[in-house]
Amino acid sequence: MSATRPVKIAPSILAADFAAFGAECRAIEDQGADWVHVDVMDGHFVPNITFGPQMCAALRPHIRTVMDVHLMVAPVDGFIDAFAAAGADVITVHLEAGPHIHRTLQAIRSKGKKAGLAINPGTGIDAVPHLIDMVDLICVMTVNPGFGGQKFIDCQIDKVRSLSALIGSRPIHLEIDGGVTVDNAQALVAAGADVLVAGSALFKGGSATNPAPYGANIRALRAACLG
Ligand code: DX5
Ligand code: ZN
Repeated sequence: MSATRPVKIAPSILAADFAAFGAECRAIEDQGADWVHVDVMDGHFVPNITFGPQMCAALRPHIRTVMDVHLMVAPVDGFIDAFAAAGADVITVHLEAGPHIHRTLQAIRSKGKKAGLAINPGTGIDAVPHLIDMVDLICVMTVNPGFGGQKFIDCQIDKVRSLSALIGSRPIHLEIDGGVTVDNAQALVAAGADVLVAGSALFKGGSATNPAPYGANIRALRAACLG
């Protein structure tokens, strides 16, 4: 089960200084991040806009770990090649982003990338057994996507537990995105999560020129996972 795997901490640069992304990525990795989570928003699938593949390509040399790209984009199929070329390691698309999710996941894998499937809070998981052999990561959205700093939606923990059972011993990461803090980390890991995305909880109090608080935040979240 995924609960036995080491937990990866994936800071979301949505909470970083947008004018200093390269330095922010280096700082958060130096302070102990396992992955860097990159939120791409299109102003259509979600009511906010961040940036596109050119920014991801620009960030790539500043990320030594895993560039975990979360596409909140619809329709998304026309952008898979660009994000693959930008150097994403994981490309996550939403179950809700189009009628042909199976094809989209195939397209990601055909580029040699890890394929992630994100599921909004209001969406069920009936489709997951039909897609499970196509995915390397399932991302449970524990807020409605579009903004950082929102309140964690508690009832999604049942979904995490159900997905963990479906994943079983498959090598599929179970990622949580939205409102993750020291207060819910242990419950999430106990339910089977092995990748915790967090923006505001990890970037609070620090900056690229004062990165020590990032390290303290990461250590606190890691410790909270253990209870
Ligand atoms: C929400 C994004 C999240 C978000 C997490 O649409 O996908 O990655 O930045 O931020 P916090 O941890 O502040 O909820
Ligand atoms: Zn995200």
